[in-house]
Amino acid sequence: MSDLGKGHQDKGKQDLKFATKLLHFGSEIDGATGASSVPIYQASTFHHADIFNPPVHDYSRSGNPTRQALEDYIALLEGGVRGFAYSSGMAAISSTFMLLSAGDHMIVTEDVYGGTYRLLTSILNRHGIESTFVDMTDLDQVKAALKPNTKAVYMETPSNPTLKITDIEAVTKWAKEHDLLTMVDNTFMTPYYQRPIEVGVDIVLHSATKFLGGHSDVLAGLAVARTEEIGRQLKQLQNGLGTVLGVQESWLLMRGMKTLQARMKHSEESAAVLAAWLKGRQDITQVFYPGLIDHPGREIHEKQSTGYGAVVSFDVGSGERAKQVLNRARIPLVAVSLGAVESILSYPAMMSHAAMPAEVRLERGITDGLLRFSVGLEDVDDLIADLDQALQG
Ligand SMILES: Cc1ncc(COP(=O)(O)O)c(C=O)c1O
Repeated sequence: MSDLGKGHQDKGKQDLKFATKLLHFGSEIDGATGASSVPIYQASTFHHADIFNPPVHDYSRSGNPTRQALEDYIALLEGGVRGFAYSSGMAAISSTFMLLSAGDHMIVTEDVYGGTYRLLTSILNRHGIESTFVDMTDLDQVKAALKPNTKAVYMETPSNPTLKITDIEAVTKWAKEHDLLTMVDNTFMTPYYQRPIEVGVDIVLHSATKFLGGHSDVLAGLAVARTEEIGRQLKQLQNGLGTVLGVQESWLLMRGMKTLQARMKHSEESAAVLAAWLKGRQDITQVFYPGLIDHPGREIHEKQSTGYGAVVSFDVGSGERAKQVLNRARIPLVAVSLGAVESILSYPAMMSHAAMPAEVRLERGITDGLLRFSVGLEDVDDLIADLDQALQG
């Protein structure tokens, strides 16, 4: 394999404002033809015109110019040195976890995404990688979980679906003192609102299937490394495991990402209105949204993020009532997933967190009455009217 797809950071681009970076990320114009989008290099392999002077890319698992454009794009947005694109968010997370070896231990946010929980508790445990789940909002709990074989800390903030807030900087500072690798799943906030690498986090991960893609039409995962050395290790794993993203999806994802800021802004505005409306209702037992004045992690969230995002979770009191709302809602897609142009209403107990044993799920606040609303780009008045009728009775 030649030294492929090293990724690059154009220093000039780093100084641009976020909205400008989204459109002018370096590969937006094809150098060969002037075409206004990244060409789709639908090729598995590359001709060696001179065997002593191999082409930059030699085989698409190891590197492809379309995927490379996306990888450089996310690295620029997150402020890291190198990006990686995978076939799904779970492919990004599982490939990254391969940095650990048998006998290693990691500390993980307790209400982590259900698929990550399943990966750790039913796959990686069989390979000798152990994990301890802690309430990351409490630094003492994180500290107490440290073992002689601890190698990494995995954060998800805001967490899914109860939107608990971890102090990224405080956990990272402590982790560095113990030589631990730090990782953040930044799916809910995206680099528009939160850039963990800026406070020293080693690896940022994404289910790009969500806000980055933004249209419920592409499954993808991304990782960004803070240092060249971590980037080199992730590259070796991505190539060795073959968990890469295809070129069509790479292109589609870049197309979606260009409107990230516009979509996030609109959805967040509506999410704030919806959260306030839910909060005012007697028949909703709890509302979770980091933008609410009484959200327990609000102050920390405001320190590390520039927005509150577009996901609102709320408890309608019982599983029966939750199912009624799901069946009566007419506007949102009732589905697994989030972060799209259309609103998506999910039922964590039976969808994203179905893999979690009921007692663990309940312990983590994911009750039978909990619904998660990912606010899309519809008119918020229509969303509220629809939810209102779904809650009647
Ligand atoms: C926070 C979070 N991380 C990771 C994932 C996994 O991503 P994917 O479904 O793209 O594999 C999800 C999916 O819902 C998620 O919500």
